[in-house]
Amino acid sequence: MTSKIKKIGVLTSGGDSPGMNAAIRAVVRACAYYNVECVGIYRGYQGMIEGDFKDMGPRDVKNIINKGGTILKSARSADFRTKEGRKLAYDNLTAAGIDSFVVIGGDGSFTGAEIFNEEYKFPVIGIPGTIDNDIYGTSHTLGYDTALNTVIDAIDKIRDTANSHNRLFFVEVMGRDAGHIALNAGIGAGAEEILIPEEDFGLERLVESLKRSKDSGKTSSIVVVSEGDKIGKNVFELKDYIEENMPEYDVRVSVLGHMQRGGSPSCFDRVLASRLGVKAVETLLEGKSNFMVGLNQDKVTLTPLEQAIKGQSEIDMELVKVSDIVSS
Ligand code: F6P
Repeated sequence: MTSKIKKIGVLTSGGDSPGMNAAIRAVVRACAYYNVECVGIYRGYQGMIEGDFKDMGPRDVKNIINKGGTILKSARSADFRTKEGRKLAYDNLTAAGIDSFVVIGGDGSFTGAEIFNEEYKFPVIGIPGTIDNDIYGTSHTLGYDTALNTVIDAIDKIRDTANSHNRLFFVEVMGRDAGHIALNAGIGAGAEEILIPEEDFGLERLVESLKRSKDSGKTSSIVVVSEGDKIGKNVFELKDYIEENMPEYDVRVSVLGHMQRGGSPSCFDRVLASRLGVKAVETLLEGKSNFMVGLNQDKVTLTPLEQAIKGQSEIDMELVKVSDIVSS
C-alpha cells in the first residue's frame, strides 16, 4: 500500500472499557504490518496537548490482549474543548511527525476528533470503545460484551444470597443514558424487572409485577436498574418506596459501579478489537478520514463520524417484551 500516511498516533479517551488494549495492540501491529510508524499518545487528548508520546512497535504491545483497562491511560480532557488546547495538540503532533490518529473512545471522544479534523484537516478514525454500547453505527462497542458478562456474573451471586433470605434486590448497573447493559444483562440474569433511561415504565408497573411475583410463589426477586433510569428514582429511593408500599418485601440494594468497566476482555471483545484496529489503520492508509469503524451484521463497516455522533443507538423494545414473558 502506498499512502501519504507515514506515522499514526493512537489514543484511548473517555471512560475506559475492556478491549481497549486489544485495539491498541491491533493498531500498533497493523502499522508494523503496513510499514508505517506508530506512536502511543498517553492520557487521551490531554497527552496530545502535553506531548506525552511514545513510539510503539509490535513488542511494546505484547501480553496485553487479555488485559482490561488501557496501557495508554485515559482521560476526559477539558483543555481539548478549547481552541488553544487543540492548537497545542496540533503543534505537538506535527513536531513529532504524526500525520493522523486513531481514537478509541465514545461519542465525546469522536466529537473532539471531528472538531480537530475540521480545524486542521487532520486525518482521524474512531474505534467505538465504551461499555454502554450507546454509539450509532455499530452493533457492539468494545467492552460491552465483557461488561454484560461481568454483570450477569455479579447478579448470579446476588441471586444466591437473595434466594437464601427471600429478599428483593435492586441492582444498579452502569448506563447514564443507555439501557443496553440493563436490558441485556437483566434478561441474561433472569431479572424480574428492568428499568432503563429510554422508557419510563412507571412505578405502578413495578409494584404490579412484584405483586404478581409474590402471588406466583417466587421467594426472591431481582430488579436491574440503569443508573440513569427514567422513573427518576435511584436504587436507594426505589428501596424506600417499595418498603413503604410493600412491607411484605425485605429489600436490599447493590450498586455494581466501576467493577463493570474492568476485567479481562471476553473473546468477542478481543476479536472485535483486533478487527476494528486493523480496519482503522487500513482506512487511514487508503486516504480516508472522519469515519468510525464498527460492526454491522458481523461485517466491519465505516460510518461517518458525524453520523456516529449524532445518531441514536436505539434500544430494542422487543427485548422488553421478551423480558416480560420470560420473567413471569
Ligand atoms: O460511559 C461509560 C460509563 O461507565 C457510564 O456508564 C457511566 O455513567 C460513566 O462512564 C461513569 O463515568 P466516570 O468513570 O467518569 O465516573
